[in-house]
Amino acid sequence: MKKVLIVFAHPETTSLTRHFADTAAQTLNAQGAEVMMSDLYGMGWKAVFDAQDFPARADPHRLSFINESDHAYSTGQQTTDVHAEQQKLLVADAVILLFPLWWFGLPAMLKGWIDRVFAYGFAYGYKAEGNRYRYGDGMLKGKRALLSVMVGGPERDYSPRGINGPLEQLLFPVTHGSLFYTGMDVLPTHAVYGTGRIDEAGVAAATEAWRARLAQLFIEAPIPFRRQNGGDYPDSHVLADEVAIGQTGLQSHLTDKYFSRE
Ligand SMILES: Cc1cc2nc3c(=O)[nH]c(=O)nc-3n(C[C@H](O)[C@H](O)[C@H](O)COP(=O)(O)O)c2cc1C
Repeated sequence: MKKVLIVFAHPETTSLTRHFADTAAQTLNAQGAEVMMSDLYGMGWKAVFDAQDFPARADPHRLSFINESDHAYSTGQQTTDVHAEQQKLLVADAVILLFPLWWFGLPAMLKGWIDRVFAYGFAYGYKAEGNRYRYGDGMLKGKRALLSVMVGGPERDYSPRGINGPLEQLLFPVTHGSLFYTGMDVLPTHAVYGTGRIDEAGVAAATEAWRARLAQLFIEAPIPFRRQNGGDYPDSHVLADEVAIGQTGLQSHLTDKYFSRE
């Protein structure tokens, strides 16, 4: 039986985000999956990564987040809320992050979930080998990840030449920099546009599209990000001269013209 973790960030029960979280839980349950829900506002999730995250400090004089994260994780002295989320992630076959787009990014609550849960030794610094396992490798390798985003503005604003820039590029730090970084296979982002003016028929259509997307959760192809250890980055830092010739920036880290399809 597949296990899916749904992490969502919205305090209002009538919000589209909550409706999508509930729809995902029902749909996946009906597909025979086991669903775990992390309702961040409902849990009173602590969004801010701070000294309270390290009750037993390695160095009481200077707060180095990476060193303390390493120490807390490796010695089993993390806070119970962080540990519980990591356990959910470890057993999950897929994780879905559901949120409203706020200032072209994640609500602080969800950003804080990543900051705190993606610990050293767990989501980065795997096997105490620095950057050896990242971008396609790591402890979370083999899991699928999907962003489901409620977007206030119209799709046109996010089109290839739209004024906001394409959504998949705006969310690159999350899909590539946070999820693929930890080893997960990241699916193309699911978006509902124009939520500011959506009517009942629009919600019904969006719900159907979301259900159809969920049916593909374990089938569809992930975003074709290049793997650090797949040969395209000989020194693990920069693309080889013969790879993505003439390309720079975000697109060069994908193996096909993914962004230009938008
Ligand atoms: C703090 C804040 C920032 C927002 N930033 C954006 C934005 O950057 N782009 C956009 O299209 N909509 C933006 N919106 C609109 C939200 O995306 C919209 O309210 C949301 O999709 C509605 O879904 P909900 O019912 O789940 O809250 C913002 C809203 C708030 C409250």
